[in-house]
Amino acid sequence: MKRFWWIAGAIVLIGLGALGAIVLGLFGGEGESSAERLALGRQVYEAHCAACHGAELEGEPDWRSRRADGTLPAPPHDATGHTWHHPDAQLFAITKQGTGAFAPAGYKTTMTGFAEVLSDEEIRATLDYIKSRWPEDIRTRQAEASRRAGS
Ligand code: HEC
Repeated sequence: MKRFWWIAGAIVLIGLGALGAIVLGLFGGEGESSAERLALGRQVYEAHCAACHGAELEGEPDWRSRRADGTLPAPPHDATGHTWHHPDAQLFAITKQGTGAFAPAGYKTTMTGFAEVLSDEEIRATLDYIKSRWPEDIRTRQAEASRRAGS
């Protein structure tokens, strides 16, 4: 009989341990995984976007004026730009397919889209990194626009 209680006790302890691990996995892991996601986003941003959109998301100088060849300089992705006016689904589509996919035929742009270069996950992580650099009120407004757009 004594042996039975030992085994029952051991099973309860193992069960509690497993439960603890599940709870930690569900609630404790969140912060870490989003930090990892932002780190990935930053890496992708620096490798594939910063050359045009700027290391500090500042864009190119005089970004509102078209160049002689008809292309626009890259706009900033920080709060001074226009990026946050777009809901999530649009930002994703622009990054994946390029702005040409949404412009009239013959539109000249250097923003050609990253469908062949980046996975959907990498694109989402990059956009999350860009958002993480916005002030709180801009983030809230963009999140609200995304909610209204259903994305
Ligand atoms: C070769 C230069 C270049 C690179 C590299 C580049 N972009 Fe762009 N991007 C532009 C230009 C220029 C525009 C302005 C729109 C246009 O010309 O069609 C733009 C526009 C955008 C827009 C729309 C912004 C708005 O306010 O409407 C988003 C979003 C964007 N880029 C995301 C990215 C992301 C994310 C990356 C990296 C994965 C990236 N871009 C890499 C040049 C670039």
